[in-house]
Amino acid sequence: MLVSGQELLAWAVANKCAVASFNTYNLETTRAFIQAAETTQKPIFLALGSGALAYGDFATLVALTKVAAETAKVAVALHIDHGESPEVIERCFQAGFTSFMFDGSHLSLEDNIRLTREAKDRVGAYPLEAELGGVGGDEDAAGSQASDIPMTDPREAARLADETGVDSLAIAIGNAHGLYKGKPKLDFTRLEQIHHAVNIPLVLHGASGIPDEDITTAITHGVRKINVNTEIRGRFFATLQEQLPETSKSLNLIGLMSPAIEAMAQAAQEKMTLFASCVRA
Ligand code: G3H
Ligand code: 13P
Ligand code: ZN
Ligand code: NA
Repeated sequence: MLVSGQELLAWAVANKCAVASFNTYNLETTRAFIQAAETTQKPIFLALGSGALAYGDFATLVALTKVAAETAKVAVALHIDHGESPEVIERCFQAGFTSFMFDGSHLSLEDNIRLTREAKDRVGAYPLEAELGGVGGDEDAAGSQASDIPMTDPREAARLADETGVDSLAIAIGNAHGLYKGKPKLDFTRLEQIHHAVNIPLVLHGASGIPDEDITTAITHGVRKINVNTEIRGRFFATLQEQLPETSKSLNLIGLMSPAIEAMAQAAQEKMTLFASCVRA
């Protein structure tokens, strides 16, 4: 069923674990994530980014993902990932999204606060995620580079949270979109300070390439939503490559896509199991 993102954040806070947020692009990836959620019996954020919305056609892709969420046997929130402006947030609100992110991380603190507050005013009772500090890399491609924006400052994070009333905060502690060159170096001291300074669930972007033990440590320090994209997309590509030689002879499109959906669902399940493994009774 389609639920408010607030329900998912509350579930993660109550269980001291993290909810997975997966970036979807089309019918195939959407099917994979819903299947993974139903198999593991866990809620998910189905996240749409601006690249996917432009590629899939806004109305078409929203209709598809919304119906998929509504008919799922588990709780699913329809989330706008890295929303660029309050206007984009408004458009998604009108279209029936149930969870929102405004990314003002490239702005000055003052402008980030002002526009985050404006975005917050447009989402009614639904939750808004803000971002403070630079998460490097590209949201739709695999290459990862460091951001030229500094990591999240705990005191600025507290100010942004207080002055905007946002419901969750995406943090920059050395995490980046895409795959890392070598092992990522996450600043857990900084994460601990942010967790102490800020009273809302924290969000970890760029989880692809972060080792399991670091994910677990992040959850220990208040991370309650984790965004994964590239690693799971990689499994889709790898399986397509395996299937192409055979299926291109028969031109069997369903035969090409079905194993790729399965592989993606399996990859998503592994992440969800890890993110929920910190549950303490
Ligand atoms: O309400 C949100 C908290 O900051 C999340 O952290 O579950 O460790 O208290 P917590
Ligand atoms: P990765 O592609 O590194 O998993 O990052 C995903 C993300 O943060 C989407 O917002
Ligand atoms: Zn992100
Ligand atoms: Na990453």
